Amino acid sequence: MKEKMEAIRSSALEEIGKAADSSELEVVRVKYLGKKGELTAVLRSMGSLSAEERPVVGKVVNEVREVIEAALQDAVSAIKNREKEQKLKNDVIDISLPGKKNFIGKRHPLEAALENMKEIFISMGFTIEEGPEVETNYYNFDALNIPESHPARSEQDTFYINENMVLRTATSPVQVRYMQKNEPPIKMISPGKVFRSDALDATHSPIFYQMEGLVIDKGITFSDLKGTLDLFVRKMFGDKVKTKFRPHYFPFTEPSAEMDATCFVCNGEGCKVCKGSGWIELLGCGMVHPEVLRQGGIDPEVYSGFAFGMGVDRIVMLKYGLDDIRLLYESDMRFLNQF
Ligand code: DAH
Repeated sequence: MKEKMEAIRSSALEEIGKAADSSELEVVRVKYLGKKGELTAVLRSMGSLSAEERPVVGKVVNEVREVIEAALQDAVSAIKNREKEQKLKNDVIDISLPGKKNFIGKRHPLEAALENMKEIFISMGFTIEEGPEVETNYYNFDALNIPESHPARSEQDTFYINENMVLRTATSPVQVRYMQKNEPPIKMISPGKVFRSDALDATHSPIFYQMEGLVIDKGITFSDLKGTLDLFVRKMFGDKVKTKFRPHYFPFTEPSAEMDATCFVCNGEGCKVCKGSGWIELLGCGMVHPEVLRQGGIDPEVYSGFAFGMGVDRIVMLKYGLDDIRLLYESDMRFLNQF
C-alpha cells in the first residue's frame, strides 16, 4: 500500500510539473482527486481494510492528497501568473510608435481678412448686416439708381436667374434693403459674396467677396467719409499708410470717389505690387445719392450719408502679394497651409 501511495504521489507530482496550462492541470486534478480519481479509489477501498490498518493507511492517503493538492495549487497560481504575463506581453502598447496626426484646419485667408475688417468697423460702432445673394433687379440695379441702359445690366456681365432675378453683382443692394427696414442713424457694414459673369483667370473670378459700408444721419459730410475710411485703412494696414481720394463716378453716390492708399509694401516708394506708382486703389465711395435715399424711404432733405464698397479678395491679394485670385478658391492645402 505504501509503495502504491508513493507511486501515485510521484506520478501526480511529475504530471503536475509537466502541465503546460490550467486545462492540463485540471486533467491531472481529475485524474487523481476527482470522483473517479486514483486517490479517491484508494479511499473507497479502505472499507476492506482491517481496523488497525485503516487509520494508518488513511493517514498516508491524506498526506498524499494534501501534497498533491498543495502542488496543484502552486502550479495553478504559477500558470495563472505565466498566462497573465504572456497576455500583458501580447497586449503591449508600443509607445515609441509615432501617433496618428490630427489634422487641424486653419482659417481661410479671405475669412481671416474679413474677420479683421469686421473687428475694425465694429470698434467704430458699425453693425454687421446681411443680404440675399440672389437679388431682384430692383434692389440690385433700380434702387441704386443704375439706369436701364447701364452695361452692368447686360447678360454679359450679370448672371440672371430669370428676367427679374440676378445673382447680386455687388453688396450695394443691402443698402436699400437696410434703409427700408431701419431708421437713421444707420452705421453698418455688409460683407459677402458677389457674382459676375467673368471668365476665371488670374485677376477675375465669377465669385468674389465685397464689403459694403453705409452711414446715414443728420449732417453727415464728406469729411466723415474721409475720416472713417482713413482710420480704417490705418487700422488695417498700419499707421504709416496715407490715403487720397480721386473723383470718380458711381450712379448711387454723388459726389463719388475712389480711395487709394500708399502702398503698404514699399511705403509709397514704388514697387512691383503698386506697379511703381506708390499708390494702391482700395475702394469706391461717395455721398449716398438722394434718389437712393428716397428708395430707402429716407428724406434726403433731412438726412445725408456716405457709402463705400471694397473688394476683399483684392485686399487679401495685396496683403500677401498674391498674383492669382484663383489661389483663393482652389482649396489647395499646399497654398492654404502657408497662412
Ligand atoms: N458697388 C461698387 C462696385 O461693385 C462699389 C462701390 C462703390 C460701393 C461706391 C459703394 C460706393 O457703396 O459708394 O464696384
